[in-house]
Amino acid sequence: MDDADPKDGYTRRAVLVTSAAGVVAATLPLGVDAAPAADTAALANVTLRINGQPRSLAIDPRVTLLDALREHLRLTGAKKGCDHGQCGACTVMVNGRRINSCLTLAVMHDGDAVTTIEGLGDPKKLHPMQAAFVKHDGYQCGYCTPGQICSAVGMLDEMRRGMPSHVTHDIAVRPLFSDEELRERMSGNICRCAGYPNIIEAIREVAGKAAGETA
Ligand code: FES
Ligand code: FES
Repeated sequence: MDDADPKDGYTRRAVLVTSAAGVVAATLPLGVDAAPAADTAALANVTLRINGQPRSLAIDPRVTLLDALREHLRLTGAKKGCDHGQCGACTVMVNGRRINSCLTLAVMHDGDAVTTIEGLGDPKKLHPMQAAFVKHDGYQCGYCTPGQICSAVGMLDEMRRGMPSHVTHDIAVRPLFSDEELRERMSGNICRCAGYPNIIEAIREVAGKAAGETA
C-alpha cells in the first residue's frame, strides 16, 4: 500500500519514525547520550567556580544547576526535593546570593561562583551555621538541612545589608533579627520533619553573635 501524502510529499511511515524518535529522546534522562555524535554538537561548555575551584563541563544546555552539581560533579549535598522551587532543599549560593538551584540552568552561570554546603565547612572545621545546627539539633532526617544552612547563611547576609522582608515594620531598625523576621525570611525552606523551632534557635544564635550579642 502506498502511504505517500500527495500534498506535501511526506510518507506516513516517515512521520511515524520521526515521531517515535522524538518520544525516545524526550524520555531519556538529561545528560544521557542518546546518539553521542549528534549530542556532542549540542553540548554547551560552561565553567563554574564551585567552592573556590574552577570546574568545566560540556553539558546539555537543559541541565539545571542542581543536576549539574549532583549528577555531573557528584556534589550531592544540595538535595532534590520538589524540583520546582517549592521546598528549598536545593538551595546554594551563587555569587553570594541564595538561590534554588533546581530553578536555574547551569549554562546560565558560566563564570559564576557557586557555594554549596560542601564548600561552607567540613566535619573538622564547621561553618558557624553548621555548628549551630548541630548544637541546637536543627534537623531530624537531615534532608532539608543543607538547603536550610545555605539559605540561613545567605539570609543573614541579606539582613546585614539591610534588605527588608514582608514583615519588616521599620526598615530603620537594626538589627532586624527578630524571630518573626527569621521565620519569614526562611519560609522558602520547608522541613517535613517540622524541626523549625530548633532551626530558628540555631539561626538566632549565629545572628546574635554576628550582631555582637552574647549567645
Ligand atoms: S528541589 Fe529546588 S526548591 Fe525544591
Ligand atoms: S530534618 Fe527532615 S525534612 Fe527537615
